[in-house]
Amino acid sequence: MPLTQMIYASQPFGFDDAMLAGILLDARRCNARDDVTGALIVRGDMYLQLLEGPKSKVEATYERIIQDDRHVNPVRLLTHEIDARMFPEWSMLDDPAKSWVWSIAEVRGGAVERFSAGKEALKFFQRLAASRADTAG
Ligand SMILES: Cc1cc2nc3c(=O)[nH]c(=O)nc-3n(C[C@H](O)[C@H](O)[C@H](O)COP(=O)(O)O)c2cc1C
Repeated sequence: MPLTQMIYASQPFGFDDAMLAGILLDARRCNARDDVTGALIVRGDMYLQLLEGPKSKVEATYERIIQDDRHVNPVRLLTHEIDARMFPEWSMLDDPAKSWVWSIAEVRGGAVERFSAGKEALKFFQRLAASRADTAG
């Protein structure tokens, strides 16, 4: 069964800590069931999520996610086949976005939309995976 990896960006709708905790609870429960792994980069004004796993499961997960009213404007940035997962140990790693994600000014200036080439988005997650590998205990 081929493995698929996809990345999308969206904007939180009514963001707060309790909502984020609820999203992560849902995500981890479903992903453990569906053999999906990945990471969610979180900012008050943007989600950037990587999902990976069996193609049909990843697509079904994304179909549910885009119906979710806890965020708006999902934009798919990348979908491709992979040989190995980037976050094999994480049903959904969450990471408070660091300065290496865009500034608010950059988002307002269209940085997310300009990302449509997609491969650029992978770099954020590659850095995140590498930083977590260093600190995994
Ligand atoms: C930003 C965001 C990320 C999410 N990530 C996932 C995820 O990785 N996997 C997942 O199954 N659901 C995720 N969800 C939750 C889904 O939208 C949905 O609530 C969940 O899959 C349960 O679906 P159901 O209510 O149809 O059973 C996410 C929601 C949001 C807003």
